[in-house]
Amino acid sequence: MSPEIASRTTQPRRHGSNAGQPLTRRDGVLKVTGRATYAADNHPEGMLYAVTAVSRIARGRVTALDVATAKAHPGVVEILTPANRPPLAHDPEEKMMPFGFRVEVLQNDGVRYVGQPIALVVAETLEAATEGAALLNPQYEVADARTNLSNGDRFDTASVSIGMPARTAHGDIAAGLAAATHVIEADYATPAQYHNAMEPHAVVAEWDGDRVTLDMPNQAMALSCASYAAYFGIPVENVLIRSPFLGGGFGSKAILNGPQILAILAARMLKRPVKLALTRAQMYGPVGHRGRTWQKLRIGTDSEGRLTALHHHAVCATSSFDEFLEAAANASLPLYESPAILVEHEGLRLDTGTPGPMRAPGEASGSATLEVAMDEAAVACGMDPLEFRLANYAETEPGTGRPFSSKALRECYSEGAKRFGWAGRPLEPRQMRDENGFLVGWGMGTAVFHCPHFPAEARATLRADGTALVETSGADMGQGAWTALAQIAAEALGLDPDQVEFHSGVSSLPDGGIAGGSGHTASAGLALNNAGEDAIAKLAALATANPASPLFGAGNIGVVARSGRLHRLDDDSRSESYVEILARAGQAEVIGTAKAARDQEAAAAHAMFSHGAVFAEVKVDPDLGQIRATRLVGAFAAGRVINPRLVRSQYFGGMIWGASFALHEEAITDHRTGRIMNADLAEYHVPVNADVPSLDAILIEENDPYVNPLGIKGVGEIGITGTVGAVANAVWHATGVRVRRFPIRIEDLIIGRDSSRK
Ligand code: MOS
Repeated sequence: MSPEIASRTTQPRRHGSNAGQPLTRRDGVLKVTGRATYAADNHPEGMLYAVTAVSRIARGRVTALDVATAKAHPGVVEILTPANRPPLAHDPEEKMMPFGFRVEVLQNDGVRYVGQPIALVVAETLEAATEGAALLNPQYEVADARTNLSNGDRFDTASVSIGMPARTAHGDIAAGLAAATHVIEADYATPAQYHNAMEPHAVVAEWDGDRVTLDMPNQAMALSCASYAAYFGIPVENVLIRSPFLGGGFGSKAILNGPQILAILAARMLKRPVKLALTRAQMYGPVGHRGRTWQKLRIGTDSEGRLTALHHHAVCATSSFDEFLEAAANASLPLYESPAILVEHEGLRLDTGTPGPMRAPGEASGSATLEVAMDEAAVACGMDPLEFRLANYAETEPGTGRPFSSKALRECYSEGAKRFGWAGRPLEPRQMRDENGFLVGWGMGTAVFHCPHFPAEARATLRADGTALVETSGADMGQGAWTALAQIAAEALGLDPDQVEFHSGVSSLPDGGIAGGSGHTASAGLALNNAGEDAIAKLAALATANPASPLFGAGNIGVVARSGRLHRLDDDSRSESYVEILARAGQAEVIGTAKAARDQEAAAAHAMFSHGAVFAEVKVDPDLGQIRATRLVGAFAAGRVINPRLVRSQYFGGMIWGASFALHEEAITDHRTGRIMNADLAEYHVPVNADVPSLDAILIEENDPYVNPLGIKGVGEIGITGTVGAVANAVWHATGVRVRRFPIRIEDLIIGRDSSRK
């Protein structure tokens, strides 16, 4: 089946504004009926299977591989090792661009983390390739694993995440702390987390001469095409990526990784299509993760409970050979007003795979600790945590003075608190019990997320039958992008969404930008909107210039597109359908194209963030310490809502992820070997249905005319940011125990109050 599935909605026609309609997902039926094809569902003729053999040591080198035995196994076709691996046109130790991480593609016999590919076995069957990999029996020269704060190499860094400054200072921190009535100072730790998308990283690579077709899940198609072209020494237009569906990306499918490059290389070497799909365990290494952090916060407050100083310091883990540091401390920059703010980061090299972007990279880890520290500061001041936030949230962006788009945050606080029933919450902890004797606690946190905008392109074709085809390459990660983007395009074209065929997920289409940073709807959406407007303008030109049209001569007056017709602006009764205009002109179609990017002047003048507030209830068994998040209410202001059903679903996903960060997720390393002990979905805890609290997400209306002409902000990641702290603060309120490492565990509540033992 072709992966280039286009779809239409099968829903009743709606009239009026398309944006704002809670349409169900266009791809929903395809997905629930198993007709949506993922990368590994492809089986081109003559295809071989590739399996990576991976290192079981964290540092050292491979001294021997039993290639002869593995190669003799029936069905094994070829084994790539550093000894025979064909050359690549780009040095994998060289960073190609800020977003291009160094990759491990058998460039030498060195080992830099557990799970690093050390060979690629290619065979006629998956079973033969798997067995071949098992027969390689690697021998190692082992060096000590550096996998902890105590033995990793600390280093100074100028930048964190991708090109963000590592240090930012406003005002005088020492003076601010000296002037404070209360100072809280505490250390916090956040764990390594792995994306664990349901769909594994996979690729089916097929070469035709020096052209290659790659079926792979991909969040950043244009960037990836350029990178693959560089690695394989071919023109960028010779790389075709098909990524119609993703079974979750979360950031890990936005960057290149070694196993996929090796599979593509094997396909070229063997002149046959090759498929590679990582196992769950193999995704704990070469495809990125959220790196560990150790954070210190110092908050000074005056006698009124206003901040006098906010100091956030983070040590952020990365690999021994590349840098991706969680921009954790930067979470303290945009939110709270203080005469002195200092955020700074240091790096820590560990023998792990390189971390990468993962769902609210930076903000998730940083706002988790900031919101707990703010709770501690509120307690120190004897203030209700909400009252404390209201006394301290910034009216303009700290440091720049750029105005936030609105006072939407205040509305998030008040609407969220109202829906949750926050009023009357006792200040002291351990005051509430439910009917079963469980300790009950309420906590809150502020949510904030920036609004990136990626350059994007789109095409809109109005067809003679009055329908349209709109196209942009960006992939749908499962969040419902197809649906929301088609609604935006339909709006611009003056059509119903079910008259719009939407086509994406193929790199040959106009560049849809990156499906990441919660910026996809705004980025690709603006391009689609502009392409639609371009098509309408061309159609209008056909009509207004033709004396036979009722719109003749309206050129200077203008027309408006509505329900498949153009109407004169000065006389609504004079109109003509798209079908009639194209028929008279004898044209089969009119094509609109557009590029869209952020208005840099607007960005320089206005702070651009989504805002929110999250309120959490937890219940704790007083004897066992077992914690359950029972209720989450989030109120979010994120600009214009295109599809409230999908937006609410994104908020729910973010809030569940936040609860997961607070209570469940952690990759645990055996520091003797550097191995992750829970590299599977049985022991790497993510919330199952029984862990998911009652959820409520309130959509606060916000009109931000500056963020982009459509007023759209991101909704994918913000739900995580307020929730982690809210849940942790609720645990304190239930128990009186302040836990400063994540995830919060039973033993943190039972063993005692010193939670900094990691
Ligand atoms: Mo993301 S971490 O922007 O997929």
